[in-house]
Amino acid sequence: MAIPTMPRMRSLVTGGAGFIGSNLVDALLDRGDEVTIVDNVSTGRRENVSNALSGAAELVEADIRDAEAMVELVAEVRPQTIFHLAAQIDVRRSTADPAFDARVNVEGTINMLEAARRGAVARFVNSSTGGAIYGEGRTLPAPEDHPVAPEAPYGQSKFAAEGYCELFRRLHGLSTVSLRYGNVFGPRQDPLGEAGVVAIFCGRLLDGGRPTVFGDGLQTRDYVYVDDIVSANLAAAGSTVSGSFNVGTGVQTTVLELVDTLGAMTEASFEPEHAPERPGEVRHIALDASKARAELGWEARLDVPGGLERTFTSLQPA
Ligand SMILES: NC(=O)c1ccc[n+]([C@@H]2O[C@H](COP(=O)([O-])OP(=O)(O)OC[C@H]3O[C@@H](n4cnc5c(N)ncnc54)[C@H](O)[C@@H]3O)[C@@H](O)[C@H]2O)c1
Repeated sequence: MAIPTMPRMRSLVTGGAGFIGSNLVDALLDRGDEVTIVDNVSTGRRENVSNALSGAAELVEADIRDAEAMVELVAEVRPQTIFHLAAQIDVRRSTADPAFDARVNVEGTINMLEAARRGAVARFVNSSTGGAIYGEGRTLPAPEDHPVAPEAPYGQSKFAAEGYCELFRRLHGLSTVSLRYGNVFGPRQDPLGEAGVVAIFCGRLLDGGRPTVFGDGLQTRDYVYVDDIVSANLAAAGSTVSGSFNVGTGVQTTVLELVDTLGAMTEASFEPEHAPERPGEVRHIALDASKARAELGWEARLDVPGGLERTFTSLQPA
């Protein structure tokens, strides 16, 4: 008797050639999904997905600002789940050109939601940010109902995109959820992102340079290893919860602690050079992920030292 095979799940990952997206694509392929990646390869890289493309993934080079193309693509692929990660993630660029930032992060998200609605997609998992929405942490770690006070257009556009996810749920019954990440780090990270400091410091450590620390280095962030972000996406896709969820460790780590932990991984000296503090930077933020723990059964598995070791090891020449 023939053994029936489970039908493969089809997932569409916007921004799948980027840092977090490509790690998510690998995990989806590992669990047997067919994956379509939508990416305009602006900050993402083809090499991030070269292995995936030799498996059950395809890359469609397209722009999420092209509403018509997104509707057609979703109608053709018919994914059960859309993981929406494509975004303009450069905080400085968002300040220099807030309208461009909004076109990608707000209008681009609306285009994906509209395509999902018309294509009867079962689940829409949106990537948002806890690191850039709350502004200066008044309660630490910050819960989801912490006041929203972004310090840059990037945080504002990501918050607006969350609002549209909720609106499409109320208005059209589309099953949406937003995940507010802390500062994500790990293999394939680009120095431009919110936790770019880890990628920059790893580069310095490899080329024998010194890390530049802005201000006193005692500013804190909630650094989350990328595999934990991937598992939060999988948990969110497999559930029906809605609204916004912090995805962080709750732990504040200073920039100097990052330097010390990385420095301890090699024999060479790794003394920081101090540069003037950068204006407009949040001093302290960390995320309370109790809600994700209770409703998604998710929690971070790797601490910062463990994640830094894996990141640094991934950068060593084979
Ligand atoms: N890295 C972090 O610390 C962090 C923290 C919080 C939230 N996030 C969110 O996670 C998501 C992924 O971020 P990342 O760090 O992997 O960044 P990334 O730049 O590596 O990935 C973004 C991807 O989107 C693609 N993209 C950009 N504009 C596009 C467009 N108009 N059309 C199609 N594709 C486009 C890029 O080419 C890239 O591959 C983003 O939504 C970001 O806001 C990241």
